Amino acid sequence: MEKISSLAKRRGFVYQSSEIYGGQNGAWDYGPLGVELKNRIAGAWWKEMTRLHDNIVGLDASILMHPRTWEASGHVENFTDPLVDCKKCKSRFRADQIPQENLTAKKCPDCGGELTDTRKFNLMFKTHIGPAEDSASIIYLRPETAQGIYVNYKNIIQSNRMKIPFGIAQIGKAFRNEISTKNFIFRTCEFEQMEMQYFVKPGTDEEWFSEWRKQRWAYYEKLGIKMDHLRWHQHGPDELAHYAKDAYDIEYLFPMGWRELEGVHNRTDYDLGRHTQFSGKDLQYIDQDNNNERYIPYIIETSAGLTRNLLMIFCDAYDEEQVAEKGNEDDWRTVLRFHPDLAPITVAILPLMKKDGLAELAQDIRAELKEDYAADYDQSGAIGRRYRRQDEAGTPFCVTIDYQSKEDGTVTLRFRDSMEQVRVPRAELSARIRSEIKAYKRIK
Ligand code: GAP
Repeated sequence: MEKISSLAKRRGFVYQSSEIYGGQNGAWDYGPLGVELKNRIAGAWWKEMTRLHDNIVGLDASILMHPRTWEASGHVENFTDPLVDCKKCKSRFRADQIPQENLTAKKCPDCGGELTDTRKFNLMFKTHIGPAEDSASIIYLRPETAQGIYVNYKNIIQSNRMKIPFGIAQIGKAFRNEISTKNFIFRTCEFEQMEMQYFVKPGTDEEWFSEWRKQRWAYYEKLGIKMDHLRWHQHGPDELAHYAKDAYDIEYLFPMGWRELEGVHNRTDYDLGRHTQFSGKDLQYIDQDNNNERYIPYIIETSAGLTRNLLMIFCDAYDEEQVAEKGNEDDWRTVLRFHPDLAPITVAILPLMKKDGLAELAQDIRAELKEDYAADYDQSGAIGRRYRRQDEAGTPFCVTIDYQSKEDGTVTLRFRDSMEQVRVPRAELSARIRSEIKAYKRIK
């Protein structure tokens, strides 16, 4: 993870938040390449979950919601972690993350000091709205995006004439006051989620649950993720969230071990039932095609972390490869094998020399390509070094402009993964890149 986080910082993917003040725990900033990568991951998910489904629509609900929302959802009462403190070294632990023998003996795993009793700690960030800081002005930063969907489900049925089964997808920030935030951007206090809530008729929920498990698995396969680094984990009875009847996590083999990447949950009619109770509004679905049958829909949720997906995609793409045996440090390259649809830079244009009109020709080609692709330009340093810089940024294609380009209008197209080079007429370059992206198969 150390190698991943230092490459991420060096190349402008992720920086520590407020670094000049010593950093802010649990918060990270996404630099020029990071924001591009994050936007592409969000774009790929959005396409998969909305554009490719006729019956799934999008939503962007606000982060601040009426505080009753969180009473209804059960978060005020149940969204807690068990917490213990060491009286001696003042370290703070999640009781479920330290060895049971330390908990039983009330012994700090770090210094051996005495631990406090376990107490419940609510993960929601609480603040005040308006000038008065009293109990009437309490407001929460949302700990999941899902509730913004539930409170809008009737609006969307009415405005978009949705019929069950249908889904609502949303990408947005969520906040949790996490006790332990190690492992880079894996678990943070501020993060982004990509959630889709699928509304189904009670009794069909188990079928849809298994269908969505299949679809979410296939999605990662399509992105070229190493499938032997993914596995399912079904929640046992003591792991199930307060709203869930059944839940499976897709876990990824991160450098620190297998960890949750995304959850698929059968939330039953819990959420809409509770919002009915707390708001006093009738949230039943009226099935006009079926004698106006009324029921509270069941909800199948697919819930992925966007920032956690970014970490997974970064870890999955990271490779160090020996490319020569000359006995110097250039024998090795670091390469990020991003799927071309996700890579922050799709194509880099590199003139072999700055002089003799090569730079101008390269700029001209770049101007043409940047209409269709994220196109970078680099004219500084030896060509080999420039290729390495692009490999480290995960750029799948480099285009080199040389003297022959001036004579016959061809350029060199270099592939990141194989490092192969082919000559392509300039006029065919854009179409060739497009067909290479479409046909992309990960080779390592
Ligand atoms: N709406 C259901 C829900 O929020 P969750 O399992 O608590 O379920 C879903 O969270 C996903 O959100 C997780 O699989 C993970 O990818 C991401 N996530 C949760 N907490 C996170 C945190 N503190 N930092 C980064 N990502 C987090």
